[in-house]
Amino acid sequence: MAIVDVTDQDRDTRGTGFDVDRIREDFPILRTRLDGPQLVYLDNAATSQKPRLVIDAVSDYYANTNANIHRGVHRLSVQATDAYENARGKIQRFIGAERREEIVFVRGTTEAVNLIAQTFGRTHIDRDDEVIISTMEHHSNIVPWQLLCEERGARLRVVPINDDGEFLLDEYENLLNDRTKLVAVTHIANALGTINPVERIVELAHARGVRVLIDGAQAVPHTEVDVRRIDCDFYAFSAHKMFGPTGVGALYGKLDLLESLPPYQSGGDMIKSVTFEKTIYNDLPHRLEAGTPNIAGAIGFGAAVDYLTAIGMDNIASYEDDLLRYGTKVLSAIPEVRLIGTAREKASVLSFVLEGIHPHDVGTILDQRGVAVRTGHHCSQPVMQRFKVPATARASLALYNTRSEIDALATGLRQVIEVFQ
Ligand code: ALA
Repeated sequence: MAIVDVTDQDRDTRGTGFDVDRIREDFPILRTRLDGPQLVYLDNAATSQKPRLVIDAVSDYYANTNANIHRGVHRLSVQATDAYENARGKIQRFIGAERREEIVFVRGTTEAVNLIAQTFGRTHIDRDDEVIISTMEHHSNIVPWQLLCEERGARLRVVPINDDGEFLLDEYENLLNDRTKLVAVTHIANALGTINPVERIVELAHARGVRVLIDGAQAVPHTEVDVRRIDCDFYAFSAHKMFGPTGVGALYGKLDLLESLPPYQSGGDMIKSVTFEKTIYNDLPHRLEAGTPNIAGAIGFGAAVDYLTAIGMDNIASYEDDLLRYGTKVLSAIPEVRLIGTAREKASVLSFVLEGIHPHDVGTILDQRGVAVRTGHHCSQPVMQRFKVPATARASLALYNTRSEIDALATGLRQVIEVFQ
């Protein structure tokens, strides 16, 4: 059984005001016992757990404010609209965007990437043009570009990674050329944890007049993101990976670029006026948000931003960095463990294989001990191909995890090894 206690080692990380005991109390699900063993939740890259503040914001909206937005003159509608637009402002400030209109609510990172492929892609990418991605992308930052390239007769170029799972900047520079129209790369790789040098990636692309989209899904819960410092043209992320609800996310775009995009989906709210002869489209960001959005989700997203802001992204990053170093040391001490993804700049992910044991068996046995990890290809099959493994087991960390939970993982892995000996 996994016994989870906050140890003195966890307490040592205090001094910054970061108190993991208190943080854990904010997450009701962390008290769950799964038929005996206490839950050790190490699948945060798939989705994170929700603090009481977020759960209450969503339930309070439905209990007290539920109405459609941007439509009614009645008070509830005005209150719901204010809460929704207020959440947009929180997200704007959280990522350092200049203007509220630069934040478009979407269903999640996947929809944000598809939105740019369908709008920017279809208007700027033609026959023989090129789109650059990297080997470490999630499928949601591969397939939309494949489909677009097929449709437009363009080419997809892929930046390789080294044996540590690091982005090869030299190879990237060689791939950039006059036909490159867009670079789309991840900020932090979901299957490896690699932190990419996004500022340099953007700088090199901009030197050639090439636009850049950054997939920030795995970055926003772990590190401070400042879109103006990165200078990216588009930045995509999901609420549910940063302690907010599922089914909502944000696309940041520089205002002039968003202004230049054609409509994405069409319908209510994205228009100013409609006649059978002509439709006049709405202003940003509403022009890119057709139909009734996920209002409760956006409000919960705003609450998640409040939660992270109160703790401080610097405190979170330094706590998690310590935890990742500890986890790397503990797992490396098990001879059968092969870590996949050993980049110098890395966050939150411990992806690994156990020699001779299928990752699904590892995940199943760990689950019996209350330890939740993800096993499989993590929607990054090209990463698996690069490392010549069918799948990995992946422990992915968040601000509420502790060294003792890492110890519980290591104990579980030793038991898995015993079972297969
Ligand atoms: N993108 C999610 C993951 O990495 C689902 O698990």
